[in-house]
Amino acid sequence: MTQAVLVTGGGGVGKTTIAAAIGIAAAESGRRTLVLTVDPAKRLATALGLAELGNHPEPNPDLELLSAAMLDSAASWDAIAYRHAPPEVADRLVTNPLFEAVASRFPSGQAYAAAEEMAVHLESGEWDVVVVDTPPASGGIEFFSAPARMQELVGGRLLRWLTGARLPGRRGLFNLAARPALRLADALLGGPLLEQVAEFLFDLRTTYDGITAKAAAIEAHFAAAIDVVVTTADPGPVREALRFHAAGIEPEVVVFNRALPTSWAEPVEPLDNGRAGARLNHNLDRWASEVRRQQDARADFGGRVGTPVHTIPWLADPPVNLDGLRALLEGSGLSMAALGLADA
Ligand SMILES: Nc1ncnc2c1ncn2[C@@H]1O[C@H](COP(=O)(O)OP(=O)(O)OP(=O)(O)O)[C@@H](O)[C@H]1O
Ligand SMILES: [Mg+2]
Repeated sequence: MTQAVLVTGGGGVGKTTIAAAIGIAAAESGRRTLVLTVDPAKRLATALGLAELGNHPEPNPDLELLSAAMLDSAASWDAIAYRHAPPEVADRLVTNPLFEAVASRFPSGQAYAAAEEMAVHLESGEWDVVVVDTPPASGGIEFFSAPARMQELVGGRLLRWLTGARLPGRRGLFNLAARPALRLADALLGGPLLEQVAEFLFDLRTTYDGITAKAAAIEAHFAAAIDVVVTTADPGPVREALRFHAAGIEPEVVVFNRALPTSWAEPVEPLDNGRAGARLNHNLDRWASEVRRQQDARADFGGRVGTPVHTIPWLADPPVNLDGLRALLEGSGLSMAALGLADA
């Protein structure tokens, strides 16, 4: 069985970095591991062994058992169309300007396409662990609701009303034009546009069965995944992290990233050498109070939820190579066992 580890959380908190670090630890524990990464910095991509940024798994030249691939969401809507509609319908869909309009205005579509890609790798049987970095466009928790949203879109009330509960035939499609609301739209917008809209909705409706089946499979993957929520001690990311609990998703672990050393909160002998000393004392005081604020934020979070909280220190050099990424998890207690991964 392939185990999915989903690394989510607010923007810029360290998801991509921590997903890479977890992937390295999993590979080093003897598991065939794939890291599905989103938009990694150049040096991080190199450390993961991604010479080219593509969505095909590339083995890491320096670490056996580790592979990485990009979770590509650029061509995503086209991929959805080709996966779930007959080729000639998909051809028509992707060239329909309305399709582009929907694709650009419906962000869950990108998250959904990424989730479909995740499912492909989880179902390939090639991996023991797939670590998934979540796409930023979906802002953490939206990744989880994307399958339901996508289904709503293609099977939604508007569409059902227009195209009928079952797929209408071509004749049914032309009957649509007889409906009062559409006749009004026709008068306002002109015939060709209406025809285009009707054809688009009809074509989009053909994807419904495929998307419904796939969405159910994706939701099963989500339910079986180990969820790692990453946050910093700042209020915005903490609010984002709490949304998971509010939505009934109980993550296995919560990681507070970029924590300052707790020793900085301990009192130090004030320096006594004039103005420079006074400024340093002032700085040390401020850092000490920031450390206490971070400690309070973690304690407060821990008090509100039952999830184990791990702390990853703020490193002076951002971790962008294998050694740096290994060091990131050291001392955090974020072991394979803590993640709930049984012995390989
Ligand atoms: N513990 C740490 N110490 C120091 N720097 C860190 C640490 N964790 C992450 N960083 C740095 O913080 C920046 C943001 O990290 P990262 O890209 O992993 O976040 P992200 O959550 O994936 O962001 P996005 O939401 O934009 O995808 C990067 O420059 C990374 O190197
Ligand atoms: Mg990222």
